[in-house]
Amino acid sequence: MKIVIAGTGYVGLVTGACLAEKNHNVICIDKDKNKIDKMKNGKSPIYEPGLEELMKKNYKNKKLDYSINYKDAYKDADIIMITVGTPEKIDGSANLDFVYEVAKQIADSVIRSCIVVIKSTVPIGTNDKIEKYINKNVKGNINIEVVSNPEFLSQGTAIKDTLDAPRVIIGTESENAKKKMKELYKDFDLPLVFMSRRSSEMVKYASNDFLALKISYINEIANLCEIVGANIEEVTKGMSYDDRIGSKFLKAGCGYGGSCFPKDTKALHYLATQDGYNLKTIEATISINKKQKIILIEKAKKKFNSFKGLNVAILGLSFKPNTDDLREAPSIENIEILLDEGAKIKVYDPKAMDNLKKLYPKELEYKSSPQEALIDSEICFIFTEWKEIRDIKPSEYKKLMKNAIVYDGRNIYDINEMKENKIEYYSIGRN
Ligand code: UDX
Repeated sequence: MKIVIAGTGYVGLVTGACLAEKNHNVICIDKDKNKIDKMKNGKSPIYEPGLEELMKKNYKNKKLDYSINYKDAYKDADIIMITVGTPEKIDGSANLDFVYEVAKQIADSVIRSCIVVIKSTVPIGTNDKIEKYINKNVKGNINIEVVSNPEFLSQGTAIKDTLDAPRVIIGTESENAKKKMKELYKDFDLPLVFMSRRSSEMVKYASNDFLALKISYINEIANLCEIVGANIEEVTKGMSYDDRIGSKFLKAGCGYGGSCFPKDTKALHYLATQDGYNLKTIEATISINKKQKIILIEKAKKKFNSFKGLNVAILGLSFKPNTDDLREAPSIENIEILLDEGAKIKVYDPKAMDNLKKLYPKELEYKSSPQEALIDSEICFIFTEWKEIRDIKPSEYKKLMKNAIVYDGRNIYDINEMKENKIEYYSIGRN
């Protein structure tokens, strides 16, 4: 099948590389010529373990190509997949400008009927609207069928999440589209779950928002644990024996970030409000997370009257390990507050420092190891649980820092070990 992918962000590029790996002929379209040239040279514009290998292999064996020329690519495609971003607008709603831009290009380019698959996370009802829009604007006797096929990959494990997905959600009621989607996924050997387009769109929001809710719930319980003298790790361990609850997404910390949970909670809440329904659980999830992201600073404020002139070490910047993505990362908000108050900040992250330099070219000192960031620091904040950061021995904090005071937003260390090493240690939900 000739598959064309519109947009080469996380979802598009990973989907393209995985479909090529499963024997389809894939062309990835992007409007950025530089990006296209880089990808042709085997360079991924994003850091994602295993992605460059797949890109290089499938480009070499001519299964995967990249192009800026959408017209040529779309005209005789079997399937066009829309994988562009749907960023958050100021009011919290999803911005569909990029989706409509691609829909317009498809209508202008196709010369035969084909399937358009929307992988981008879009508000309920968007697939219906896009199908109408394309068919209204397309020239000649052509029928475009739009299928909802949301993406559930996580950054850092995106390739595995795609090749080995627990399920593939397919929203369509058309027999022809079902047949084409079965063909698309025939070599994947994954459970295909068919449903209506609106249900499929909702599965994506409901899943992401449920996971975000689970995190905010456990973060609130963690905060309460601190007050009542319980330990969140013992509590979640105890809860997880009940397989109705499970053990995943119950890790308390300094809040969730990334490109999906913050945006998708706000978008679903907005969408519900527009329809006159107040989604109270999601409203609470959003506001709990907002507070949780600055919980370490709040704790530190109890000890330090001011951060002015204080030597601060920040370890971990990305919103989670194994990605260079800083979108909605708790580190950013905390850096803003610390800079505002006049702190002197040294940062370290294995992958995300280049991205942070674009935001703060001069305001921060970028260090090439966590140890360098710790030297002579008076306080340390940990925002991401990279292995390299987990591997720092408690004794190193004591040895390198001026004052060994550590605020850990990811509960990396054993409290007793930190005590034994005479480190003043604050974490989440543990006393
Ligand atoms: C998420 C979904 O997992 C994925 O299915 C969807 O397609 C996109 O959004 P991603 O944003 O890549 O993926 O990361 P994820 O691993 O889900 O983590 C999101 C955030 O939640 C991170 O900031 C992480 O630190 C935080 N988190 C996760 C917790 O605080 N506690 C947990 O127990 C799990």
